Amino acid sequence: MTKKFYITTPIYYVNARPHIGHAYTTIACDTIARRHRMLGEDTFFLTGTDEHGQKIERAVEGSGKTPQKFADEISAEFRALWDRMGLTYDDFIRTTSDRHKRGVQELFRKIRDNGYIYKGTYTGQYCVYDELYVDAVGPGAPCPECGRPTETVHEENYFFKLSAFADKLLKLYTEQPDWIRPETRRNEVTSFVRSGLRDLSISRSTFSWGIPVPDDPKHVIYVWLDALANYITAIGYGSPDKSDQEKFAKYWPADLQMIGKEIVRFHCVYWPAFLMAAGLPLPKGIVAHGWLLFEENKMSKSRGNIVRAETILDVLGSDALRYFLLREIVFGQDGSFSFDALVPRYNADLANGLGNLASRTLTMITRYFKGEVPYPSPAAQHKASDDTIADLARKTIADYAEFFDQYQFSKALEAAWGLVAAVDKYIVENEPWALGEKQDEESRARLATILYTSAEALRIVTALAHPVIPDSTAKIWAQLGLGEIKNFDLTELKWGQLHLGTKLGNVQAVFPRADKSAVERMQKMEDERRAPQIATEPVVHAAQTPPAAKPSNGGGPAATPAAATPTTPAAADAKPAAPVPDGKITIDDFAKVELRVGQVRIAERVKGADKLLRLEVDLGTEVRQVVAGIAESYAPETLIGRKVVIVANLAPRKLRGLESNGMIVAASPEGGKAILCSFLEDVPVGTRLK
Ligand code: MSP
Repeated sequence: MTKKFYITTPIYYVNARPHIGHAYTTIACDTIARRHRMLGEDTFFLTGTDEHGQKIERAVEGSGKTPQKFADEISAEFRALWDRMGLTYDDFIRTTSDRHKRGVQELFRKIRDNGYIYKGTYTGQYCVYDELYVDAVGPGAPCPECGRPTETVHEENYFFKLSAFADKLLKLYTEQPDWIRPETRRNEVTSFVRSGLRDLSISRSTFSWGIPVPDDPKHVIYVWLDALANYITAIGYGSPDKSDQEKFAKYWPADLQMIGKEIVRFHCVYWPAFLMAAGLPLPKGIVAHGWLLFEENKMSKSRGNIVRAETILDVLGSDALRYFLLREIVFGQDGSFSFDALVPRYNADLANGLGNLASRTLTMITRYFKGEVPYPSPAAQHKASDDTIADLARKTIADYAEFFDQYQFSKALEAAWGLVAAVDKYIVENEPWALGEKQDEESRARLATILYTSAEALRIVTALAHPVIPDSTAKIWAQLGLGEIKNFDLTELKWGQLHLGTKLGNVQAVFPRADKSAVERMQKMEDERRAPQIATEPVVHAAQTPPAAKPSNGGGPAATPAAATPTTPAAADAKPAAPVPDGKITIDDFAKVELRVGQVRIAERVKGADKLLRLEVDLGTEVRQVVAGIAESYAPETLIGRKVVIVANLAPRKLRGLESNGMIVAASPEGGKAILCSFLEDVPVGTRLK
């Protein structure tokens, strides 16, 4: 019977458009799925989008769209990008789909029927960014995971008896040490569980963007229970349909669940506990990779340091991005992305490496042997250098498989490109072009051996690299005269299978060299793309309707004060009424200044200005762009989620070409750094100060 292989990516939040951090996980899974298909396994590769919860509900606020419309648009963007990149997912699950909702409710019922759910009251802190209940104490206390201010939640919830699973989970981690990889993540999870598990709230009742709890629709199911269930609902869990049930029986449990390191707890503690409680088998293994960093920080929308895959696709193509991410980053660890590193790696390994090997080998076969793979001379006449290549190719096939199966993609590719380099050197040392000028039998035989050896090594590297760089290897394969690479059975890959006399296809360069301007072009495209990124969180200019105070959304106050003011004092542009004799203003004068509570959504440095930060501040009914001179006091990432006071009716003005619509209020001690005005109590976004 054919072996099955079920692999999943996390499902992506729809609060942000896809960037190369998301692409990284999906590319890694696509690569693994492709290799398993080439090995003849019945492979099912799942990805999708995570569309419910408070985080998404908040992202939608002020967009003028319904959450569903918002989710439809961003989800479609993910899908369109995966399609453009040729990612071979077999299904794309959306958590707002009926099949998913039905499955989640079924899972909830099952866990409840098995006695693991009870009603209680939760009072404590919640991090909306991570959708995580945290143990932090006090309003605004920072989330231990992301450092953003938490919010106080007090509501009636359904609880899951997570505490009942501590021993079973520890047993799982001990008995199956490879269940969580890499080891560092296993240790992290083990100590988390050892430190004691508390029951988990698995419903929310203060907002409605979620899946209703069966028989109690005032509650929506906690978004992580909803999201994790995608791995089973997508393959038919909870469906009354017989074919769905068969599909579920066939593919579950998953063979590999790939995640980023920040969501290990959800996948390695909550997920197996939910499954155990429902009486379902556990996935066979969870692998957590590291983060893609850009300018030393995790690439994320809120940091504003994202790079879009589209930029690289436009300039270098999908294979370049895939190769770079898997070759350059040690899988499991954090790794940096930069255009400065991408272009030289592309030129060295793809254009000059594999691309050059393919074009010189195939061009010489075309020129000297009329485009037919030549007969090598008998083994007895081989030189040691010919056998060295054959031996290295055999070793490369074995090493590549071993590294790949341990998800050490960079090492696997290093091994394959070791063969490319060796063949390159072999060609240079044996000078086939000189032999090509001679007509004697000995020279022809030698030339045939060299070109056969080179072409066979090229075939082997091409087959091995296909899951990583599918488009270009498919072209090289066709140029080698071997037809469609997707029909090739990788289990059969051995040295010496290139058929003699095979007629080559049309020989063409596969990787055009990237010139010096490529880096600059990509950087420019990114700069231009950053502006429309705000589209999901519109920047409303000061000229538009001023915000009205909004009911509380439970936002917590900033935990710590800090930050500098811009330049002019708050009321500078609000023309004061005629001052009363002692220099005081009237209450009417003060009333002209519209001060409101805002929450920082995005903070980033302004290019070429050491003191300025560009902020996007949520005022409850709109998101404002404000340029503030507080860069010397605050690192941008420490401001995300923080509540600030904004002069909301200040006339817009331009700073470094950026329009600033409002001003942030801060104390400016003499000779010291400015300190942002903040609150000790929880104040709803949009509240007016008066
Ligand atoms: N929706 C949850 C996952 C639910 S799974 C049941 C979520 N979504 S996310 O969009 O924020 O991130 C999903 C995944 O995207 C991460 O786990 C990670 O695999 C990938 N990445 C997002 N940003 C990344 C980087 N900067 N670097 C590497 N991977 C990144 O969490």
